[in-house]
Amino acid sequence: MSVQKEVKRVTTKTLQEMKFKGERISMLTAYDFSMAKMVDAAGVDVILVGDSASNVMAGHETTLPITLDQMIYHASSVIKGTERALVVVDLPFGSYQGNSKEALTSAIRVMKETGAHSIKIEGGEEIIESVKRILSAGVPVMGHLGLTPQSIYKFGTYVVRAKEEEEANKLIHDAHLLQEAGCFAIVIEKVPAALAERVAKELTIPIIGIGAGGKVDGQVLVLHDMLGINTEFKPRFLRTYLNLYEQITGAIGNYVRDVKSRDFPNEKEQY
Ligand code: KIV
Repeated sequence: MSVQKEVKRVTTKTLQEMKFKGERISMLTAYDFSMAKMVDAAGVDVILVGDSASNVMAGHETTLPITLDQMIYHASSVIKGTERALVVVDLPFGSYQGNSKEALTSAIRVMKETGAHSIKIEGGEEIIESVKRILSAGVPVMGHLGLTPQSIYKFGTYVVRAKEEEEANKLIHDAHLLQEAGCFAIVIEKVPAALAERVAKELTIPIIGIGAGGKVDGQVLVLHDMLGINTEFKPRFLRTYLNLYEQITGAIGNYVRDVKSRDFPNEKEQY
């Protein structure tokens, strides 16, 4: 008789308990079924179907062009590859900034059409009505502050955010607003480590950092960056765990060589 082990899904409550226990939260992006399956099997707590798909999957320079339909396509593939991780989906640029009704409609489409567990949106006070409206429909919301890539043309560059007091104070204020509204966690991207640490200490919900130092409740990276697939992106905060670009081009080069030399297929590789 085979005994099937039931995998317990990570929930927003699990993340809250992890923060209370001081257990760090691991989060990575994924955009397709096969990668999501590996990320989930490796034990990552949260999988983000990030709008960074616009960069690493579609080849755009920014996250702005990706559409809600495209995000739904990625998210519905990812969800099929997961058993344990909590799946968060980015609402893309233009799908929630107009008004809170539009934001709710977008969030509901993601939840209905993908089977994902929650959504993430960028910004603080300026989108708080949308956050509240989405939450009132029972959809868990993750916030995103600091360097918010959908606002790249407002910032002008991808440099570290909130180094000045005024911007740092706004970030702290926004983080409190998001928590009071009911967000279950906040991503804080590319800000000084001391600022992120302060926010993580002041807030009771988990703070997930990217380029925000080690004194927050969890870390997130873009999968293609940490696996060394995307070789052009080398910020200081990135640790690369593989050099997949070289390994994959090497393997494919070997295949091309074997086809050209007629080594592949051999006698055992045919019927
Ligand atoms: O889209 C994304 O990958 C993100 C992470 C950088 C946090 O928002």
